[in-house]
Amino acid sequence: MKNIAVFASGRGSNFQAINKHIKSGDIPARVVCVISDKANPPVFDKAQHDNISTHYINRKQFKKEQEYADFLLRILQKYNTDLIVLAGYLKLIPAEIVRKFRHAILNIHPALLPKFGGKGYYGSRVHEAVLKADDKESGATVHFVDEIYDNGLIIKQDKVPVKPDDTPHTLADRVLKVEHRIFPEVVKAFCEDRIQIKNNGVEIKDE
Ligand code: GAR
Repeated sequence: MKNIAVFASGRGSNFQAINKHIKSGDIPARVVCVISDKANPPVFDKAQHDNISTHYINRKQFKKEQEYADFLLRILQKYNTDLIVLAGYLKLIPAEIVRKFRHAILNIHPALLPKFGGKGYYGSRVHEAVLKADDKESGATVHFVDEIYDNGLIIKQDKVPVKPDDTPHTLADRVLKVEHRIFPEVVKAFCEDRIQIKNNGVEIKDE
């Protein structure tokens, strides 16, 4: 049974998608806490509804980066965290935490990385950029987190078509359905120790 700390900034639909699979027993894990850089995001209501502890932690509450990293680390250790899941979390994770949780932090991104990733590419901005580039397909990516935004090893991707009459909103809805499918699949694989890193690539066993 793995202990998962979820970091989220907003609505929390990916948190809910994963937690649904945990509650049904499909993923052998528990969500030990939800951490946000926002004071009262909708994801907190969803977590509290399931009696999951919530923590508002913002870099601005600390004078130094080190104090911020230490505080986060203490919380993660307090819950014996095995896996960090970034579910719509828009801030960079401190490098020290990335080092301590190497290949144990997962992020979902609403595009086919390495395209349309990096600082500033989040939420509807990603879909606006895809439409502007006139790409014929988009999708979602689950990847390991490293020290650089949207840069870590890709674990799983799936595609959706971009339709001629799409708006950022309609495209986001289509991509979100893929997110809600592939993110729980990858979290499940992690919790069942089925993710293997080989020659700088990632393989999911028994899939
Ligand atoms: C999701 O679409 C996720 O891919 C995106 O934020 C949304 C959060 O939705 N993340 C990023 O853009 C990260 N760069 P949710 O709060 O309903 O899960």
